[in-house]
Amino acid sequence: MTRDSPDESPADKLLKMLGGKWVTASVCAFAELGLPELLAQGPVSVSELAARSGTDAANLARLIAVLVGLQVVARAPDDAVRLTDVGLCLTDGALGDLARYVGSEAQWRPFGHLAHAVKTGESAFELAHGAPLFEYLASHPADSDRYDRGVDAFTRETAAALCRTTELPSGACIVDVGGGRGSLLVELAKQLPESRGILFDLPHVVEGAEARFAAAGLGERLSVVGGDFRTAVPQGADVYVIKHVLHNWDDDQALALLRRCVASMPPDAVVLVVEGVLLPGDILDGTRLMDVEMMALFGRGHERSKQAFRALFRDAGLSLVASRPLIAGTRVLVGRRRGV
Ligand SMILES: C[S@@+](CC[C@H](N)C(=O)[O-])C[C@H]1O[C@@H](n2cnc3c(N)ncnc32)[C@H](O)[C@@H]1O
Repeated sequence: MTRDSPDESPADKLLKMLGGKWVTASVCAFAELGLPELLAQGPVSVSELAARSGTDAANLARLIAVLVGLQVVARAPDDAVRLTDVGLCLTDGALGDLARYVGSEAQWRPFGHLAHAVKTGESAFELAHGAPLFEYLASHPADSDRYDRGVDAFTRETAAALCRTTELPSGACIVDVGGGRGSLLVELAKQLPESRGILFDLPHVVEGAEARFAAAGLGERLSVVGGDFRTAVPQGADVYVIKHVLHNWDDDQALALLRRCVASMPPDAVVLVVEGVLLPGDILDGTRLMDVEMMALFGRGHERSKQAFRALFRDAGLSLVASRPLIAGTRVLVGRRRGV
């Protein structure tokens, strides 16, 4: 493990920051090669792991040495290596899909243009790929699948926390606006056996969701609508969940989406915005860093402080009635129509 030392020089500190690239790339390559899943079957020698994964034994040994230092894997008896609890988080069904997305070529490339985003306010993704993110994904199915799975991996972690902290009417109709692969709805539906849910996202994103809902035994209660939320959202639901969507958009577009939801919902419906909330000052937490991701991907998409959310809610005709922590700096912000 690289260590902070009290007499670390300014240059050493800077070199460590620049080395963040090597850390991310190593962890992502480990996930990309399916190594967490192989090691989850039990400790194995590096040469055996190379044979099973079809990788170059010498270079795999070098990668493993770094991952031992990062405490993603650990040395085990008989020259074997094993997954640590951190490494276990990189398996399928956990955060492996997120690592594969973060490490993908399409996602690395925009970061070579971050200075462009800072200089111009434009999207680095668009400069790198020639199209805005969601347009690009619509015509690149493999990258789209990686994106949806990557976002969904984090969402699965958040869903359980949302169910624990947020009480919803048991028979509610819940629409997940920009709901991706629908994992959040699945979790909510399991917790609220009387509820119904509608997954609303772009047509190519919701493809396959019906089959996943049916496989989860929820085909009767969860339905799917493909569409563009810049035009309309499903009408008449009791709960409008908008999770990690508003930060993709500038204030005008975020406000327009919130207003569209308010115009589509009955007076006593509730809006649940799930996002990171920027803390006052310059505290460097996950949400502050996610703001850089939003800058690179969208140019003007950005994270927001509680004050900024309150203003956005107010302008959309909502009162911010509660804000509760979920996981990793993510909060649920509860909005109700003003004056009801
Ligand atoms: C960051 S992802 C969040 C997905 C999901 N809410 C979650 O947290 O797992 C943003 C989502 O917005 C969807 N989206 C983007 N533009 C959209 C549009 N115009 N209409 C509907 N959905 C859109 C994307 O397809 C994507 O699934």
